[in-house]
Amino acid sequence: MKIAVLKETAAGERRVAATPETVKKFIGLGASVAVEKGAGDGASIADAAYAEAGAEVGTRAATLKGADLVLFVQATDADALKGATAGAGAVGMFDPFRSKDKVAGYASGGWRAMAMEFVPRITRAQSMDVLSSQANLAGYKAVLDATAEYGRALPMMMTAAGTISAARIFIMGVGVAGLQAIATARRLGAVVSATDVRSAVKEQIESLGAKAIFVENVKGIEGEGAGGYATEMSDEYKAAQAELVSSHIAKQDIVITTALIPGRPAPRLISDAQLKTMRAGSVVVDLAVEQGGNVEGSVAGEIVEKHGVRIVGHRNVPSRLAADASALYARNLFTFVSTFWDKEAKAPVWPADDEIVKGVTLTEGGKIVSERLAG
Ligand code: NAI
Repeated sequence: MKIAVLKETAAGERRVAATPETVKKFIGLGASVAVEKGAGDGASIADAAYAEAGAEVGTRAATLKGADLVLFVQATDADALKGATAGAGAVGMFDPFRSKDKVAGYASGGWRAMAMEFVPRITRAQSMDVLSSQANLAGYKAVLDATAEYGRALPMMMTAAGTISAARIFIMGVGVAGLQAIATARRLGAVVSATDVRSAVKEQIESLGAKAIFVENVKGIEGEGAGGYATEMSDEYKAAQAELVSSHIAKQDIVITTALIPGRPAPRLISDAQLKTMRAGSVVVDLAVEQGGNVEGSVAGEIVEKHGVRIVGHRNVPSRLAADASALYARNLFTFVSTFWDKEAKAPVWPADDEIVKGVTLTEGGKIVSERLAG
C-alpha cells in the first residue's frame, strides 16, 4: 500500500496534505509513503523532514508510480494520477459542486475520488472535518487581515495624550469561521457584534461576549438546520436583514463576512449603498469572495477601496497560515484514512454502506456515485 503526497499545483496554494507527523503515522499502520520534492516548501516543511519521518522523497513521477492512494489539498485534474495503480483513491478537496468536469474525469479514468468537503457533520467525523479545521484558521486570520488594513488601534487605550476608543467589529455569518473571528476580535479588545440566520447561534455569540444582532420580525432558521448549514432565505427575510444591517453597519469600523450556503453562490449581505454609510478608513473583509462574495464590489485576490472603505478579498485564507493549516488538514486526512484501515490487509477498505464513505465518495468503478452531485 503506497500513499503519494504531491506538491500542490493550484496558484497560491501553500498547504500540503501530509506532514512528517502524519507520514510517521501512516508508516506505523504499515503503509509506505512517497512525497514529491518540495511538497512542503510553502508550509515550511523541508524535504529532509519528510525523509527523516520515513518517506521516500522524489520526483512527481516517482512519487506517483504504483501509488494506491494520492493525498491532495486541492485535488488536480485526474490526469495527475497517471502512473498510480489502476483504480487508486484520491483524497482531497474537490470543490465538487463547481468542478463537474473534474469529477467526470475521475469517473472516466476509473479512479476513486473522495471529497473531504463532503464528510458528513456527525460526531464520529468531527476530527475529519476539513471545512471546520480550515475555516477556524480563516476566521482568525480575517481579523488580523482587517487590523493590518485598519489605520487605527483595536482596544481602548487611555494614554497621557488622550483616550483612543475601542474599534467596533461586526461579524456576519457565525459558523466556524465567524465564531473564531468573534473570539479573536474580542481578544484584541474590540467591541464585537455578530449576526446569522440560524437562531441557534445567538447563544454562542453571547457566550463569547459579543452582541447578537438578529432579525426578529421574520422567521430565520430555527435550530441548527440540516447538518448545521444555512439555506437560501426568503425575500421577506432578506429585506428585513438588509434593513437591520443598514442601521447597524454605519456605526462599525470593521465588518467581517463569512456567510456561505453549500452548493449555492454566497448570499449578498452588504450593498454598495450600505458601504457608503461607513466612515472613511473602515475595513470590510469578505471571506466568501471566492464563492461569489457577500459584499458588493469585493474582488477575489485584491484589496479595493470604495467610498473610503477598504474591501479585503484575499483568496484561500487558510493557505495564508500554511503551516498550521497543513498540520490540521493532514491530521484530518490521517483520521479519515486510518478509520477505514484494515490491519491485516495493511490498506484501507471503504465500506459502501458507511455514512462517511458514502458521503465523501464522488466516483467509483467508472461512475459518479455521489448523491449530492446527482440531479
Ligand atoms: P458555513 O461556512 O456553511 O456558513 C457560515 C455561516 O454563514 C453559517 O453560520 C450560516 O448560517 C451563515 N449564513 C448563511 N447565510 C447567511 C445569511 N444570509 N446571513 C447571515 N448568515 C448567513 O457554515 P460552517 O461554518 O461550516 O458551520 C455551520 C454550522 O455547522 C455551525 O453551527 C457549526 O457549529 C456546525 N458544525 C457542526 C459540526 C459537527 O460535526 N457536528 C462540524 C462543523 C460545524
